[in-house]
Amino acid sequence: MTEAWGPDDDEPRPHSGPVRVRVPSKVNLHLGVGPLRADGYHELNTVYHAIGIFDEITARHGDTLTLTMEGEGTGELALDETNLIMRAARALAARARVPAYARLHLRKSIPLAGGLAGGSADAAATLVACDMLWGLGMSREDLAEVGAELGSDVPFMLFGGTALGTGHGETVSPILARPTTWHWVVAIADGGLSTPAVYRELDSLRAGSWPPPALGSADQLMAALRQRDAEVLGAVLGNDLQPAALTLRPQLGEVLKAGHDAGAITGIVSGSGPTCVFLAADAGHAQRVAAGLEAAGVCRAVVTARGPQPGARVI
Ligand code: C5P
Repeated sequence: MTEAWGPDDDEPRPHSGPVRVRVPSKVNLHLGVGPLRADGYHELNTVYHAIGIFDEITARHGDTLTLTMEGEGTGELALDETNLIMRAARALAARARVPAYARLHLRKSIPLAGGLAGGSADAAATLVACDMLWGLGMSREDLAEVGAELGSDVPFMLFGGTALGTGHGETVSPILARPTTWHWVVAIADGGLSTPAVYRELDSLRAGSWPPPALGSADQLMAALRQRDAEVLGAVLGNDLQPAALTLRPQLGEVLKAGHDAGAITGIVSGSGPTCVFLAADAGHAQRVAAGLEAAGVCRAVVTARGPQPGARVI
């Protein structure tokens, strides 16, 4: 006999914990920045691409909300209520009307303020981890709605892959292309760059007498992705924020030159920088470019990474 009011097997239930979630980082293969809007954001036309430098969030049950961390940037990141991870957990709890009780732990590899969406990645991972820990059973679309309030890149970090971003970046549509692995060499700088400061710098460059040329739509980039040829893709990578990042951090010019000298197909500043990413033809080529860049001694660390990668997911 079945119990009339027993638990429904389809109902999501709280997880006993711990829940571990891995989240990649991102580069923008195309970052077209439109005008400044009244709400303080710029209209974007961007192609996001998730790459294999990962952070990990572990969520356990607790009787309050706490956060600890280890790894890249330990000590520089505030672990208080201003932290995007804490804000993500609180926003999800408020939306689901549950208490925001969890012990969260961050294992960080994505550099802080690096232009790789590390903060947004951690927020996305927190949403996925707490959703499972608390048994909310929310869809990715619902989580993305909560995430869009936290940071422009959070929805993309939930979906991953390669996707078109519009609005201020929060509206994401997947780009359907035959699966291709792209090989990247990532040059990590000493210290970060503030995203709002880079956008402000772009506005002031555009208001000057020699405004940098603006990128057009992302159509060419999407056509290049379909050709599955790294030389073709390399020819159309572009980032409107690059001149602003280079103005604020002129040394990035040396990093881009060193990558070129090391034989990369092409290199660009990632997002608002200061990380630079270089496209390679295959894994072996990426290793050689990485070795050349390392030898040039122009950045703090060099790593290779593959894309695309899935978004935040339970492991
Ligand atoms: O959304 P997110 O928190 O990543 O944005 C940080 C800041 O970057 C914004 O407050 C804004 O100054 C700038 N930004 C922008 N236009 C965008 C995205 C971010 O001006 N599309």
